[in-house]
Amino acid sequence: MKVPAGWYVVLSSTELKKDKPLAAERFGRSLVIWRSRSGSPVIADDLCPHRGVKLSLGTISNDCIVCPFHGFEFDTSGACQHVPETNKSAVNLTVATYKAIEQHGFIWMWYGDGTTAQTEQLDWFSDLENNKLSYSEHSDVWPIHVTRCIENQLDYAHLPYLHRNSIGRGFDVSVKRQFELDDKQIALRFEEGGGFQFRFPNIWRLEIKTGMFYQMLAFVPINEHSTKIYARAYQGFVTMRILKPLLDSIFSYQNSSILNQDKYAVVSHSPNSSIDATSEKLYPSDAGIDWFRKKWVEKIGEKETMHG
Ligand code: FES
Ligand SMILES: [Fe+2]
Repeated sequence: MKVPAGWYVVLSSTELKKDKPLAAERFGRSLVIWRSRSGSPVIADDLCPHRGVKLSLGTISNDCIVCPFHGFEFDTSGACQHVPETNKSAVNLTVATYKAIEQHGFIWMWYGDGTTAQTEQLDWFSDLENNKLSYSEHSDVWPIHVTRCIENQLDYAHLPYLHRNSIGRGFDVSVKRQFELDDKQIALRFEEGGGFQFRFPNIWRLEIKTGMFYQMLAFVPINEHSTKIYARAYQGFVTMRILKPLLDSIFSYQNSSILNQDKYAVVSHSPNSSIDATSEKLYPSDAGIDWFRKKWVEKIGEKETMHG
């Protein structure tokens, strides 16, 4: 799948258990994701190089993933450390691995040119570093290209329509608004207070009340036709242990009902990818989307999207 090179959120930390490999499709590839003995995430192609079965059906032992078919063992670098039949390693037998890191409660994967992965910083939102904030999370899969999901979050003119009975009530689309656009982000501050920020390649957050209340989304490409969305509500109002679960579930419910209002329209986009949408007529409120398309295409052109 052609997307810009970068560190992508690919999974929530809570989904990846110790001692249990997980199969996940990302970027149109079948991947196996597992934890090493130290707990670090390992991401590899979900295909045994011996006779092509899914490694995710296997087990984890001694920091290796063990193929369920004939028991070959592959270490965290993808090298075959043990072939039962010969009782030896097989250095030429490797499974492709990807750079992976765990931060902010997500598993991140470097997708793109392997040489730049060393230098590129993983991007995050400084205001969510605040340890007074806690979050609840849910996820959903939308049957549409990742670009359409991201653009929906850069589009404020839909607020009084798709969200007329929720967050868009009374929102005035005729007020001229100024985006902040650069190579790493697309941001907008509302005069009414708050604002949103998208950071390439796949994270977004909305500030509802400074230091207190945020919504955060990660748009994870599954393949050309589907995207997994992780949605978090961060809050700092209630720290009382007894009330927090209740509040978290209320926020989570609100989040998912607002996102469902978006999903209703967004999954109907044609063409599937906004990069092919050359005949759409953009308006001034679409300035963020216009910038996103230019940068997305430019970033794909900059670096090859082969894994490292
Ligand atoms: S197919 Fe994996 S060990 Fe044989
Ligand atoms: Fe929306």
